[in-house]
Amino acid sequence: MLKVPEFESIFGRPPRWIVAAPGRVNVIGEHTDYNDGFVLPMAIERYTVMAADISESSAPRILIHDSRARDTAQIDVSKPIAKADPRWSNYIRGVAAGFQSRGVKIPALEVALVSTVPLGGGLSSSAALEVCAATLLETVTGTKLDPIEKALLCQKAEHEFAGVPCGIMDQFVSVMGQKDHLLLLDCRSRQTELVPLNDPSVAWLIINTNVKHELSGGEYARRRAQCETAANILGVPALRDATADALERARGQMDLFVFRRARHVIGEIERTLQAAQGIRNSDWPAVGRHMYASHYSLRDDFEVSCKELDAVVEICQSIGLPGGVYGCRMTGAGFGGSCVALVEAGAVDAITKQIATAYKAATTADEAKNGIEPTIFSSRPAAGATVIKS
Ligand code: GLA
Repeated sequence: MLKVPEFESIFGRPPRWIVAAPGRVNVIGEHTDYNDGFVLPMAIERYTVMAADISESSAPRILIHDSRARDTAQIDVSKPIAKADPRWSNYIRGVAAGFQSRGVKIPALEVALVSTVPLGGGLSSSAALEVCAATLLETVTGTKLDPIEKALLCQKAEHEFAGVPCGIMDQFVSVMGQKDHLLLLDCRSRQTELVPLNDPSVAWLIINTNVKHELSGGEYARRRAQCETAANILGVPALRDATADALERARGQMDLFVFRRARHVIGEIERTLQAAQGIRNSDWPAVGRHMYASHYSLRDDFEVSCKELDAVVEICQSIGLPGGVYGCRMTGAGFGGSCVALVEAGAVDAITKQIATAYKAATTADEAKNGIEPTIFSSRPAAGATVIKS
């Protein structure tokens, strides 16, 4: 059983509960979730873990120690929970407020928080934190939520307490991911299909560029608004309902940016369904082609890539099929963060070395004189949120 030594060393006794929730990587289906489209993410073997017990103090508060931030937060549970410092605690506050609004009484707790989900890497460290907090509160209060309701509660926390108007992908896969499966999620009906992926001949590489560009926050909201504008002009409830032909016919009625954003979304929804079919057929070269096409569309039409992400994709493309790379693309919201590549399992070590060397060389010219070290790891599709000790 997983141990969280931090809890014992801080609070001087073993924890009563331990829960965990994973980060995610999105294989394909980017910026489609808030357009009612399809996404195909998987949970990764990187987890946020909370170890907890009922508080020994009489104060009505949750005390959380975050070992990565080396910081402690206190949440008063005797009144309605609102936003407050430290900033990282707002994900947990938002989730706890969601339980309060369902009439659940939250007891005073002591919590040790540890995480292996990289921060700012586009791998949903915030969703992992929200889903981990929700899993802890379910376990502690005995209020088990339906998985969809749980994911939506966490998404609301992100909207209202972190101010990020995200879609539903990250929280859904952190709740519902299954080992050795991708999650094909219809973001309109919220129906899910687990697509098996346990072929030992292929592996997923996650390449963190270790850059995060400042403009990410406002640009995400801007892209969302542009997609809504396009749907309005096309007279459809969401871009999910639009076709490439209808968009082409309406080209003269919208500005070029809005047109290109919509072209990305419409194409990406189609590519996601085709990539899911490629995975069902174990047709790895086809999956790889869809991944590259997704990247170019995100780079040129949706304009959420950056030179570091493009460099990784170019390096992967130059290694190519002869070197064991099927495909590569940026993953997550963009403007930095990570790429995901589908590769031959036997070539993981060689490809990792090649990417690390070439990326460092490609990033030598500008701000980082000696080049940027990427962080590269492989992960099999992992399980969603779990109770480890109850
Ligand atoms: C972020 C959001 C998701 C999704 C992606 C882009 O990860 O949290 O809801 O919109 O960006 O696909």
